[in-house]
Amino acid sequence: MVRTGTRRDHDPGPAPEALRLVKVTKSYGTADSSVTALDGVTLGLERGTFTAVMGPSGSGKSTLLQCAAGLDRPDSGIVRVDGTELTGGSETELTKFRRGRIGFVFQQYNLLETLTVAQNTVLPLRLAGRRVDRKRVREILTAVGLGDRLGHRPDQLSGGQRQRVAIARALVTEPRVIFADEPTGALDTRSAREVLTLLQQAVRVHGRTVVMVTHDPVAASWADSVLFLADGRLAGRLDAPTADAVAERLAHLGDIVTAGV
Ligand SMILES: Nc1ncnc2c1ncn2[C@@H]1O[C@H](COP(=O)(O)OP(=O)(O)OP(=O)(O)O)[C@@H](O)[C@H]1O
Ligand SMILES: [Mg+2]
Repeated sequence: MVRTGTRRDHDPGPAPEALRLVKVTKSYGTADSSVTALDGVTLGLERGTFTAVMGPSGSGKSTLLQCAAGLDRPDSGIVRVDGTELTGGSETELTKFRRGRIGFVFQQYNLLETLTVAQNTVLPLRLAGRRVDRKRVREILTAVGLGDRLGHRPDQLSGGQRQRVAIARALVTEPRVIFADEPTGALDTRSAREVLTLLQQAVRVHGRTVVMVTHDPVAASWADSVLFLADGRLAGRLDAPTADAVAERLAHLGDIVTAGV
């Protein structure tokens, strides 16, 4: 007998959210001089969405991304990526999960200068002990416009090209969620647009979930929604953001009463 309100055995139920944070807190420093970087952040992001995270310098954006991506551990609270809880497991389990399911793009690219473009791109596969399909690597680098640069080294590339290698590297494992911390922060307008196009395609074409920290209202307007942080807390959300609306919200962040999302 199937009772109302219970699931049938063969019904897998709703797909898990791409990201769920519950009351996540993180402080730095000692008891004497402690800084609360995240102060009880609770949020959920659906799969296949593009979210921007904004807020003043020091509001906890990078800390949020690092904790959500399993690069750092919160002091308390729960982080779930694609239905799997990151908090609580061992370091080895966490590293394995991160290498398989999560991509990360940094503001300063973080490429290894001694490796070629192709070698940098496949690094996550090698670290995960996965097979490297050369054809696939060429495809990914062609998709980011670097099909003719496979043998180049980072110092032979422009900033925009380096960031596109970093995006190829983040995409190569076909992760569920891609975190990007100010990926356009060091780029000119045109290179920034190329990077944003790639991130948006990862969502629209490949159904991945992207979470991007940015200070730029124009970059944020590429996202489906914007989450605002202030003093380590969520301070609002804006759906279908325009650059003007984002700038307006940022200017008045201090006035907004902290709201759950
Ligand atoms: N490793 C650390 N040790 C000590 N304090 C830290 C550390 N990392 C971050 N903090 C502090 O935590 C708070 C949040 O920092 P975080 O880097 O998350 O801010 P942010 O919003 O990313 O800022 P920005 O826009 O400048 O990058 C800040 O007060 C910062 O000084
Ligand atoms: Mg930061």
